[in-house]
Amino acid sequence: MKIIVTGGAGFIGGNFVHYMLNKYNDYDIICLDALTYAGNMETLEPVMHNPRFKFYKADIADRNAVYEIFEKEKPNIVVNFAAESHVDRSIDNPSIFLQTNVLGTGVLMDACRKYGIDRYHQVSTDEVYGDLPLDRPDLFFTETTPLHTSSPYSASKASADLLVQAYHRTFKLPVTISRCSNNYGPYHFPEKLIPLMIANALYDKELPVYGKGENVRDWLYVEDHCSAIDLIIHKGRVGEVYNIGGHNEKTNLEVVKIILKELNKSENLIKYVTDRPGHDMRYAIDPTKIHTELGWLPATKFEDGIKKTIKWYLDNKTWWQNIINGEYKNYYERHYKGR
Ligand code: NAD
Ligand code: DAU
Repeated sequence: MKIIVTGGAGFIGGNFVHYMLNKYNDYDIICLDALTYAGNMETLEPVMHNPRFKFYKADIADRNAVYEIFEKEKPNIVVNFAAESHVDRSIDNPSIFLQTNVLGTGVLMDACRKYGIDRYHQVSTDEVYGDLPLDRPDLFFTETTPLHTSSPYSASKASADLLVQAYHRTFKLPVTISRCSNNYGPYHFPEKLIPLMIANALYDKELPVYGKGENVRDWLYVEDHCSAIDLIIHKGRVGEVYNIGGHNEKTNLEVVKIILKELNKSENLIKYVTDRPGHDMRYAIDPTKIHTELGWLPATKFEDGIKKTIKWYLDNKTWWQNIINGEYKNYYERHYKGR
């Protein structure tokens, strides 16, 4: 079995590469990644000498490069994690989100059609459903909830999902799509809420909470996302969408306070800053389908996952300090200064 994992130098893709190489000793994993600001070879350093792992630096929107890799590798399965993934950056500069998330997905599926494939899996997001109101805790996203996007990021991900479904219907491409809630865990790029708050708290820097901190996210430990995708690519029904989430809703303020408590830091570090434009209020996944059809359940509770995550950031300071001391500094200045 040979699997192409795109975006494998990023947060979830990197965790998936490690997960699959550990779980299967007869699978070859081929990583295809453009190494944007979010891609990091240090994440893949532990597997670079594994004979069952190969890395290609390539852009999924570069048709010639992608076709060349498919021609050479002839993969059985493609799992597409490659994306521009940060909502705030999509508000600053939408066009790269369309280029990678929509056009790149199209190129990958064309390659799958041209060279033949057993399964193309699109890693999508719960953000394609828009948001839910805070005063309706009875409402959840199911796979039939209409797409209703808020940011250029989520609009690009929803567009890609529609394209994937069109390639299934029109060209009979054997596809699956998963839509997951917010992940957290090792190798998470420090622009995102949880690693940003851990890093800032460790430096006694202000913790910038958007608006009132009342927005709700449904947090899932990254390894549980990997186990769900593993099940879907092997046992999921072709043409289907599967929601992934563990019923673990928390307000942003709750999450930030848990991190401060774990690190024994003062809540005075919290600074309320100007809200994100178009900020989604609440995400909440109904994971009934993947549970009943495929038997998937998350293994890690938030109380344990957040402790493991904080420990990872404490034990791997070089990994994230190399990022925050690089180009990321300029992004941070631009995004947060005077906010
Ligand atoms: P990330 O930003 O950490 O990593 C993205 C990776 O894709 C990086 O390695 C980057 O170099 C690579 N990449 C970007 N553009 C590329 C291109 N044109 N060609 C090849 N590689 C390219 O993202 P993540 O948080 O790991 O998210 C991975 C996927 O999961 C995304 O598709 C995202 O939409 C989806 N998702 C993320 C979450 C979450 O909580 N992070 C939740 C649900 C779904
Ligand atoms: O739901 C899945 C999505 O989760 C993925 O599709 C995205 O790729 C991923 O980035 C994530 O999107 P969010 O916008 O929910 O994640 P982020 O970490 O950027 O923000 C989480 C919440 O924290 C959100 O309500 C905004 C808030 N926030 C974020 C940052 C970076 C702050 O209050 N302060 C901050 O500095």
